[in-house]
Amino acid sequence: MQRGTKDDQGYRSYITGAFDHWARLYDPFLALFRLKGVRRQTVEISGVGPKDRVLDVCTGTGDVALEFAKRCDDVTGIDLSAEMLAIAQKKDREDRVRFLQMHATKLDFADKAIDVSAISFGLHDMPLEVREEALREMVRVTKGRIVVVDYNPPPNQLLRAIYIAVVSLWESKYFPDFGRSDLEGLLAGCGLKVERERAAWLGFVRTCLCHPRE
Ligand SMILES: C[S@@+](CC[C@H](N)C(=O)[O-])C[C@H]1O[C@@H](n2cnc3c(N)ncnc32)[C@H](O)[C@@H]1O
Repeated sequence: MQRGTKDDQGYRSYITGAFDHWARLYDPFLALFRLKGVRRQTVEISGVGPKDRVLDVCTGTGDVALEFAKRCDDVTGIDLSAEMLAIAQKKDREDRVRFLQMHATKLDFADKAIDVSAISFGLHDMPLEVREEALREMVRVTKGRIVVVDYNPPPNQLLRAIYIAVVSLWESKYFPDFGRSDLEGLLAGCGLKVERERAAWLGFVRTCLCHPRE
C-alpha cells in the first residue's frame, strides 16, 4: 500500500485510533489469555544470542521485546501507536529496549542490519497488502531468523468460521480476512522458509521460526 495514499492513511488512522484508545486496557485484557509461555516460546525458538541485534515489529506494550531483552542487550521495538509505546516504555524500568514509533512497512534499518526479528500478533491487524510489505521489510533488514506469532485458525471450514466469528468479537476489522488467508503461502511469497513451528493455546496460536530464502 503506497504510503501517503488515502488507503494507507485510512489504515494508519484506524490502527492508531484503536490502539491509542485501548492501550491502557491492552495488558489487563491480555492477562486473561496468559500469554507468558507464548512470549518465552517466541524468544526460545529464535535461538537468540547475547550479542544479537533484535527487532520486535508491532511491539505494542513491549512484552516480546522485554522478553528478548532478558537475553540480549540490543533490542528495538517499533509500533505505530504512541500510547502502546508509552506503556511499553513505562514497563521497561531499566531502559533495556529502544522503543520507536515506526511503520512496519518502512523500517528505518539498513539491509541485513538485524540478527533476529519478530512479529507477534501484528499481521492480523493489517490488510493483506500491508502484511506482505511488512514481511518483505523484515526480510530486507534481517540477516538471521524471523519469528512470526499469530492466531492459527483451524483448517476445518466450519470450525474456522466459528473461530473467526468468536475472535472477531475483540479483534480489528482486518482479522476476518487474516483468518481466512493462507499464512504459509504469504510467508513463502515474501521469501520466507518456515524451519520450525510450535503450537500454543491448544493450537489456537502458532509460532513459526522462519529464515529468509537464499
Ligand atoms: C495486537 S497488538 C500486538 C502487540 C504485541 N506484539 C503483542 O504480542 O502483544 C498489534 C500492534 O501492532 C501495531 N501495528 C499494527 N499495524 C502496524 C504497522 N503497520 N506498523 C507498526 N505497528 C503496527 C498496533 O499499533 C498494535 O500495537
